[in-house]
Amino acid sequence: MPHNEAVTDAVTLRREGNIARIVIDNPPVNSISADVLDALFAAIRGFVASEELGAAVITCAGPSFSTGAEIEELDNETASAAWKEMDRVVEDCPKPIVAAMQGCAYGGGLELALACHFRIAEEDTMFGLPEVSLGLIPGGGGTQRLPRIVGLEFALDVIPSGRVFGAPEALDNHLLDRVVPSGTLEHAALEFASQIAARGLTGDQVPRTKNRALGEDTASARRLVEAAKESVSLKWPWSGARLAAIEAVENCSRLPFPEALDKESEIFARVVASSEHRALKHLFFAERKARHVPGMRQDVPIRLFSRAGVVGGGQMGRGIALTLAAAGIPACIVETSETIAQAALSECYVEIDRAVTKGSITESEGKRRRQCLSAAADQDALAESDLIVEAVFEDLEVKKSILTSIAQITKPGTILASNTSNLNINELAAFTARPEDVIGLHFFNPAPRMRLLEIIPGDKTSPEVLKSALALAKRLRKQPVVAQVCDGFIANRLFDRYSLEAEFLVEEGVSPYDVDAALRTFGMSMGPFQTSDLVGIDVGQAIRRRQSQRLPKGVRWPRVEEKIAELGRLGQKSSAGWYSYLEGRRGQPDPVVEDVIRDYRIGNRIQIREITEKEIVDRCILAMVCEGTKILDEKIAFRASDIDVAMVHGMGFPSWRGGPMFYANEVGLLDVANQINAFSARNPFWWRSSCTLSRATASGMSFEEVEASRCGEIA
Ligand code: NAI
Repeated sequence: MPHNEAVTDAVTLRREGNIARIVIDNPPVNSISADVLDALFAAIRGFVASEELGAAVITCAGPSFSTGAEIEELDNETASAAWKEMDRVVEDCPKPIVAAMQGCAYGGGLELALACHFRIAEEDTMFGLPEVSLGLIPGGGGTQRLPRIVGLEFALDVIPSGRVFGAPEALDNHLLDRVVPSGTLEHAALEFASQIAARGLTGDQVPRTKNRALGEDTASARRLVEAAKESVSLKWPWSGARLAAIEAVENCSRLPFPEALDKESEIFARVVASSEHRALKHLFFAERKARHVPGMRQDVPIRLFSRAGVVGGGQMGRGIALTLAAAGIPACIVETSETIAQAALSECYVEIDRAVTKGSITESEGKRRRQCLSAAADQDALAESDLIVEAVFEDLEVKKSILTSIAQITKPGTILASNTSNLNINELAAFTARPEDVIGLHFFNPAPRMRLLEIIPGDKTSPEVLKSALALAKRLRKQPVVAQVCDGFIANRLFDRYSLEAEFLVEEGVSPYDVDAALRTFGMSMGPFQTSDLVGIDVGQAIRRRQSQRLPKGVRWPRVEEKIAELGRLGQKSSAGWYSYLEGRRGQPDPVVEDVIRDYRIGNRIQIREITEKEIVDRCILAMVCEGTKILDEKIAFRASDIDVAMVHGMGFPSWRGGPMFYANEVGLLDVANQINAFSARNPFWWRSSCTLSRATASGMSFEEVEASRCGEIA
């Protein structure tokens, strides 16, 4: 008869014959906190003390093995002391322990399994040491045990990249002793452990990874380490953690196991204190928070999406349809004519086929996605849809006619979404008789790839529609950020202000190519002028024309881009914009543009001056921060961290800097406020301060603390 001994709520020891089944049950992801580790060690001590027990199985309840350590505890000394015990208690255990895994075994979860003496997993289990994505290295022995088990080459592939891999790859690389069909783990693990117990292994007979020699000799280890460093420096030039991970792995070829393990702890302590880790950890929690709307009631129902319609089969409409199809939601594209509709559908098929050819999706997945898509010229095809996303031209009149008619033909409860980048959702909602069903769903270009989905409820949007939009984001694997109605919402509004500042800098004396280069060095995925060429200078100019009409008289407004557009240079689509694209998509600096800029400065009697790289970065990045604080004043974003998430996932702000608002906190808000004051001397309208910033600097608080003091709670 099985006999249970609960060590704590999260860990139980169950005796099944001569096998100890130690179960971690810490929902939702079986994360391993210091308390869970303590309880696990107590269970192992119970197993060791019991003479009848010959082997143990460590397993996790629920759909998944452990996905790692408790993130809140990563910089906690008690927790790191507990992780250090792993070696003594698990690996040095005098009787054999089998790790039995299903679902995901990530980070500390996998490190626990590596310290066990045998490993068995279900066939669809995923493995990985993704600590580098949080600016860390594996700190529970992973950098020492994994290379000894799978070889240096594979370890140097997966640890510095954080890449996850499946059970077949794990088996091929000797990480697993046995792979079993899904759903059979419990029985298979007991059977496997019984076979191990029957071998009567004790003391030194128990196979310990730490006693294994590394497969590579010193010379080949050196070569592999150098190649890994080169590849990481090319792909992630900003990442100290990835190089630190290689340094830790390299130690297993140079030092005895105990010393290398101590070094791992030292390197872990170093990276845990790095700004890279602080930024990535901030972003991790910011992404989670952004999925929640403050005050949203639990009992608000969510609408289901079994069919969708996309009106407009242009660049965005096609991308949105492809995103819906990827999530298994059938989507019909409606265009102005049958020919255009079919052409849009064919272009979607081309995209799907390209993904199949590249191997990013399987052939059957490609077939499934194709079957999800259809096209029509008649809006009646959308009558049964649960969700319509309009992605027609950014023109209020065109959008008005679409929304008016689809509100009439669709069934009650169908969500009517607009992909507008700038227009007022309240005005759009007023064109329909059911404004409660209208919401902004702002996808970014290219929609299938960009993670951000800005969700913009209007004043009358129902909580049910807002909650359903958040659920849709999850289904589409998008990162939602909720914004209130304003011109440009969060991401475009900050980006527009940043681009404006970049153009002011050009007027004042710096070349656009130097501005782009400085901001790329800061970490932006592209410079503002490259972005403008990509999006289309005409698109940006149309937005600017509208914005300029709302400005008070006499406000400084940049005009160089307008001059460039007047030459018919509209960006990549016309093979010329800020750059020239005669030799493919990689733009080249163009003397014509430099002439336009010089003539503009002369015509406007602008005295040019020397501008440093530091000034370029400070002005462009702080322009975003300054606008971000205004967004907080106006309550367009719920939290400063939502702005960070929007800029990282929508606008290519470097994740390892945590987003503009986090970056400002790191620089120091007093310093930021002083710089904003200094910039305002030359350009007062654009560098006005905000209540949020004044409040933060007056009280010495961070943006989060200001928000918390406003709401009386930490958001
Ligand atoms: P686009 O010009 O590529 O496509 C618009 C499509 O709408 C055209 O194919 C046109 O034939 C179709 N259309 C126009 N009137 C129609 C009607 N009455 N019925 C059916 N189809 C109609 O435009 P794009 O770039 O796809 O933008 C669409 C929307 O997405 C705009 O509101 C834009 O602001 C927004 N957006 C654009 C982004 C971008 O980077 N292009 C990014 C995020 C949002």
